[in-house]
Amino acid sequence: MSTPERRIALSSPWIDERDEELVLEVLRSGWLSLGPTGPRFEELLAQAVDAPYCAAVSSGTSGLHLCMRLAGVGPGDEVITSPYSFVASANCAMYEGAIPVFADIDPNTYNLDPAAVEAAITPKTKAIVAVDIFGYPCELDPLIDICERHGLALVEDACEALGAKYKGKPLGSHGHPAVWAFYPNKQITTGEGGAVTTGDEEQYKLLVSLRNQGRLETSSWLQHGRFGFNYRMDDLSAALGVGQLEKLDRILAARKEAAARYSQILAGLDVELPIADDADHERSWFVYVVKLPAGVDRDAIALNLVGQGIACAPYLPSIHLQPYMREQFGFSEGLCPVSEDASARTLAIPFHARIPREDQERVAAALAAALEAA
Ligand SMILES: Cc1ncc(COP(=O)(O)O)c(C=O)c1O
Repeated sequence: MSTPERRIALSSPWIDERDEELVLEVLRSGWLSLGPTGPRFEELLAQAVDAPYCAAVSSGTSGLHLCMRLAGVGPGDEVITSPYSFVASANCAMYEGAIPVFADIDPNTYNLDPAAVEAAITPKTKAIVAVDIFGYPCELDPLIDICERHGLALVEDACEALGAKYKGKPLGSHGHPAVWAFYPNKQITTGEGGAVTTGDEEQYKLLVSLRNQGRLETSSWLQHGRFGFNYRMDDLSAALGVGQLEKLDRILAARKEAAARYSQILAGLDVELPIADDADHERSWFVYVVKLPAGVDRDAIALNLVGQGIACAPYLPSIHLQPYMREQFGFSEGLCPVSEDASARTLAIPFHARIPREDQERVAAALAAALEAA
């Protein structure tokens, strides 16, 4: 019997000795939360995205939730967002009793189509959660314009897009709140963790209070000026984040290189590759997602690859068709046809900063054979 080939993971964090050193330092200091490492991480992240203010939080999801508070979203309000995203970008509105409204996406960028967003606005609309899916910047200027004309709050779910730029400026530097996430599949990781950056000092102060059980700057530990949450990031996570941010440029460059290699290796296959950057959009590579031809059984292809030890995932299912969404809001097929078509045909293949070329070649060969067989 031949030995099975080594498994190729879908993603993998880049952890090195410097990260270990920084985490150990905090561990040995005994100051595991609310110490000096959280602010150090926040400072570096603010610098990296050129944002005036940064509040670290316990996850991207908690960051999005706090942004609903910043936007004043409450029961009965509507929040427009993308169906082609991770569920947290819609759930955050539901946490506050609001209704998620899904506007369809652009078939090439997979990001919100501004015209669809505008068409979805009603008198109940309070905010837009725009997602930079797969690290590709969303159409910020048209969305900002829509928000200004209709008096809506804009929250950017940049959880997958650390390092991306819109019109030459980093995401996070455009004034409105942007949310970041650091789960281990992201460009940088803190284990679990997230952050919100903003250009507004008042928003920053509110974030700092809300993440810390509603404590006020002036109050003692057991005085709570407002209703808040425990959405703090601990110092061990922040220490790992400091190490990660120290090598952010190398991580982003390596991911870009790996993506370029895939685009070259996969060029002859009958699949749509991720859209290239243009003058306005500079992607930060989060995942590498291909779109299979219509009519091909994507799930059979995925099973075939997994059977050969190649991890892959059907990124992304349309949120409005998740069982709990159908049940609670009665959403069904046909609501967002472009998103639904993408959901049926897109596939994320193994991708991370240090993926070896030979693994990428094995993935490409397996994908080619699976497509041939399909
Ligand atoms: C687009 C998007 N939004 C939100 C999140 C939520 O982040 P977290 O898993 O840190 O809560 C993620 C992460 O998976 C994401 O990809």
